Amino acid sequence: MTLRAVIKGAGHYLPARVVENSEFEATLDTSDEWIKSRSGIERRHFATEGDTTSSMACAAATAALKDAGMVADDIDAIVLATSTADFTFPSAATMVQAQLGMTRGFAFDVQAVCAGFIYALANANALIVSGQAKRALVIGAETFSKIMDWTDRGTCVLFGDGAGAVVLEAQEGAGSPEDRGILSTDLNSDGRLRDLLYVDGGVSTGTSGYLRMQGNQVFRHAVEKLAATANTAMDKAGVSAEDVDWIVPHQANIRIIQGTAKKMGVAMDRVVVTVQDHGNTSAASIPLALSVARANGQIKAGDLVVTEAIGGGLAWGAVVLRW
Ligand code: UT7
Repeated sequence: MTLRAVIKGAGHYLPARVVENSEFEATLDTSDEWIKSRSGIERRHFATEGDTTSSMACAAATAALKDAGMVADDIDAIVLATSTADFTFPSAATMVQAQLGMTRGFAFDVQAVCAGFIYALANANALIVSGQAKRALVIGAETFSKIMDWTDRGTCVLFGDGAGAVVLEAQEGAGSPEDRGILSTDLNSDGRLRDLLYVDGGVSTGTSGYLRMQGNQVFRHAVEKLAATANTAMDKAGVSAEDVDWIVPHQANIRIIQGTAKKMGVAMDRVVVTVQDHGNTSAASIPLALSVARANGQIKAGDLVVTEAIGGGLAWGAVVLRW
């Protein structure tokens, strides 16, 4: 028998403020047409007063627990992916632990920027298969509106805020690709590529800083590295492109999503796309897409799902799971 981390529930939270592309036309030399055609983004949600990374994470986690039919004290571990925690410390994860009223277990943040949820899932999976946790909440939550340079049209039109979460539970499997749960993970990073995507602040500057990106350079790396990591993860899981029911990619750019799916040999009608409504929500984008796809009936129990993401670092990776 093989221990598997099985998804038992999913949930998400999006702030109430919706900003259409056309709103940027008033302050920037940009257009709805440019943003839509170059990125696929039509609108995004921005945090309003009262929305913080930890509060949004808590709302998504509460929805995921409800979906799983569990309460906070059923959970042994919270793994929260974010690059925009409310404070330098404590972790957003421990703040969520307190807000959920969870009095046991442990909680920590994972920081791998847009690949954060993939890294968090891989870490939570390792905790479960090694017997250190039976049930884990895995959350992606971001408030990228706090690190936008609103005068930089090359970045500020691309990002959004929100949170998504899943509940994992240990379950015995047969050790075959037919098992439910996480079947494989693949993580990669290359710190030499830091200048392509970074925030120019932190404890070394005494400011939280702004996101800086060489978008077309990141784009070049994205399709190639995402297809490679997804294929590696599928090999590890013993599955191939024909077996895939859904690719749930990081939602940064529709052209990256299409290019990666094409390289993987998977048709776009088997790809979950939410980038038009959420923009790039960094570590929140995959759990948001999983939760939305589950709620609208796209992903069903037993479906084979491949998730993949790349972001600052550069850091990238993929997870193959059966829902
Ligand atoms: O999630 C983390 C990973 N991040 C990503 O995956 C983002 C990856 N990159 C991208 O999505 C795309 O590179 C962008 C959407 C950021 C840009 O698309 P692009 O096709 O690579 O355009 P570009 O950066 O090569 O810029 C083309 C032109 C430039 O003008 P010139 O130099 O050709 O005159 C830019 O200045 O578009 C201009 N431009 C804009 N024009 C109107 C850049 N931003 C804007 C804008 N509105 N908002």
